[in-house]
Amino acid sequence: MTIYSRIVGTGSYLPSKILTNQDLERMVDTTDEWVFTRTGIRQRHVAADTENSSDLALAASRKAIEAAGIRPQDIGLIVVATTTPDMVFPSTACMLQAKLGTKGCPAFDIQAVCSGFVYGLGAADKFVRSGQYGYALVVAAEVYSRILDWNDRSTCVLFGDGAGAVVLKQDKAPGIMSCHLHADGSYADVLSVPGTVSGGKISGRPLLQMDGSTVFKFAVKALGEVAEEALAANHLQTSDIDWLIPHQANIRIIQATAKKLGLSMEKVVTTVERHANTSAASIPLALDEAVRDGRIRAGQHVLLEGVGGGFTWGSVLIKW
Ligand code: UT7
Repeated sequence: MTIYSRIVGTGSYLPSKILTNQDLERMVDTTDEWVFTRTGIRQRHVAADTENSSDLALAASRKAIEAAGIRPQDIGLIVVATTTPDMVFPSTACMLQAKLGTKGCPAFDIQAVCSGFVYGLGAADKFVRSGQYGYALVVAAEVYSRILDWNDRSTCVLFGDGAGAVVLKQDKAPGIMSCHLHADGSYADVLSVPGTVSGGKISGRPLLQMDGSTVFKFAVKALGEVAEEALAANHLQTSDIDWLIPHQANIRIIQATAKKLGLSMEKVVTTVERHANTSAASIPLALDEAVRDGRIRAGQHVLLEGVGGGFTWGSVLIKW
């Protein structure tokens, strides 16, 4: 009998502090008009100094676990996608496991920047499908506010903090129909945080830097291609997609992707206006919102697609 994995619970968390474009006007030489017309962003959430990625992950995970109707002890595998871990090590997944009050199950981080959730879901899907774990928790949590140069108007206006989580369960039918993951490390310099810890000191500049227009062009191309790849692999047409949930970096990237696919924006879940770009967390945040408000319903086809630093990109196609 073929085993599949199915999402049986979703959850998300946004820090309470909201930073609007008007707030940013007082910090850097920018305007709400510039930010909104270029990106579709009006505001972003920013974590408190006391909140780390594992805290955001914990809040999102508790909601996903509750929605799945299980207990933390039932989880056989924890995967956390983050670019902003609590510390060099232990992994944020281990920190989360301890905060959930469970032990023994494997827990590891995935680092694929904004594609992290799609990568994490792809990895967890394989473990669940192998029959080894009955339930897997896949979480993406980010505190990008910690790696931004708040004096650089070309980057600090784009990002926000948040977390999203799902619980995967073994099932006889999909569930997750396909995962396609890609990377091209030759673009490393285009989007990076080129710093590390060395000899007890920070070496390099540990703040986000980006060639925005190269990222923009690559993202539109990659998101279009990976959607076509998922459709072809599953013998589906664009018209079979009920909901597209792309990485939420810029409404213009999302609109260009939908146009390329011939998909109406009414079928695209967008949160970028309120959340900004929360990197790996953006897809599960949008997914949780659309599940909880009833847009996503049983039997529908939901296509998740991410793109980010690396470059990395990929898709997960789900029958809900
Ligand atoms: O998850 C993946 C991570 N990143 C992304 O997905 C980002 C992808 N890239 C983008 O979203 C867009 O390229 C940006 C939003 C970053 C930039 O939009 P753009 O339409 O490509 O603008 P631009 O870079 O061509 O900048 C145009 C102008 C420049 O001024 P000059 O040289 O034309 O005088 C910038 O200095 O806008 C200026 N500018 C700003 N002005 C006001 C850059 N940032 C700001 C700002 N406020 N915040």
